Amino acid sequence: MSDGKNRRVVLVSKDRDFLRDTRAAFASSEIITLVSIEQNMVDLRNEIHDLEGAAVIIDMDASRLDEIEALQRIMRRLGDTVPVVVVTQEFSASAVRILVQLRVADFLVKPVTTADLVRSCIRALQGPGREENAEARISTFMPAAGGVGTTTLVLETAYQLHNSTLRGTSTCVVDLNFQQGSCAEYLDLEPRFDISEIENQPERLDRHLLDVMLSKHESGLCVLAAPNAPTEMRSFNTDVVVRMLDLVAAYFDNVVIDLPRTWFPWTETVLLGSNNLYVVAEMTVPCLRHTQRLVRAIQETTGKSIKPKVIVNRFEQRMFEAGIKQADVEEILGDHFIGGISNNYRLVRNAVDRGVPLHEIDPDANVIADLRKIILPEEAEAAATKQRGLLGVGRKWLRKAG
Ligand SMILES: Nc1ncnc2c1ncn2[C@@H]1O[C@H](COP(=O)(O)OP(=O)(O)O)[C@@H](O)[C@H]1O
Ligand SMILES: [Mg+2]
Repeated sequence: MSDGKNRRVVLVSKDRDFLRDTRAAFASSEIITLVSIEQNMVDLRNEIHDLEGAAVIIDMDASRLDEIEALQRIMRRLGDTVPVVVVTQEFSASAVRILVQLRVADFLVKPVTTADLVRSCIRALQGPGREENAEARISTFMPAAGGVGTTTLVLETAYQLHNSTLRGTSTCVVDLNFQQGSCAEYLDLEPRFDISEIENQPERLDRHLLDVMLSKHESGLCVLAAPNAPTEMRSFNTDVVVRMLDLVAAYFDNVVIDLPRTWFPWTETVLLGSNNLYVVAEMTVPCLRHTQRLVRAIQETTGKSIKPKVIVNRFEQRMFEAGIKQADVEEILGDHFIGGISNNYRLVRNAVDRGVPLHEIDPDANVIADLRKIILPEEAEAAATKQRGLLGVGRKWLRKAG
């Protein structure tokens, strides 16, 4: 999967609704092309094999012997290299045993949510060995001051991770600014996370309810955000936050969290559960000083198990004659300073006003390149090397020509 190639998946089903939903679910995938065979799987001969898919989804009734025999035939013909995902009507212990013995990559019982099916397929394509790092990567962004650009960086990070071939395929943004979040707004989505519904019984929040409460962006990004309630003072308990993050982490490859400035009783739990913690700051003396204190406080409360990385947004190489310089930033923050993000008012403003992600305005924008160096250093480096290579060749060619 990490080669970024498009993969063909063959779907066999005679269930019209299922075919339609599945086609719709895969339509936006940049990784998978779905080819469907609308037939009873018992009648198939070489059709599946001839389509040379990288994986196969078979919709069948695993309680029927003739269908199991047909599955066996199909799998024998496909050999060991093409994973088969079975979607079955019936669910019985004996059917499960047979499917396990046949070594299907996965089996799902109808009704199947398309999200489960997509995940299952992607996992099948990735093959065994993915299990070890199957856990979600959680990146948390915490502002060191108001309006420093946290939400802007959260959303673009989510999008970049979502489209990174190395980082899996599903991404969820979680806006923990329950009172006045702007993640949904920035993407022109309707926030659908209804806290009051689960406030007193967090165990009610299950996969199904989560699905209802997610807002889905056309890019494939999911956003968990609550509608704004400017006049309410909302404080809710740690259980709800933990339950919500556990669920999200179980179903997504990447989770990107937008934290509020205020330190809540659950903040520490969120920090401890994160793989990467970015503190977003700006280039003023008071903000950098505050950042320094914040970093220290985080390290004290989390027992140094978390190393905050500071991103300085709206970074200027030379602010003013007497202003702050990169050397000052480095001196104040030490090795917590991980990088700066260019100041690009027009780009960011334009994106926010139009309710679209930054890259839609300009995929080559300096803000995006700066951010990628921080969140996807390997990929950014690889791209830079390639670019240098091209330039090198170009120069040589020019020299010859001249
Ligand atoms: N790199 C940048 N260059 C220019 N303006 C920016 C940049 N990042 C953010 N902004 C602007 O700063 C303001 C605050 O951004 P926002 O992401 O909402 O911050 P926060 O979530 O920290 O409150 C917005 O108007 C946004 O357009
Ligand atoms: Mg914000």
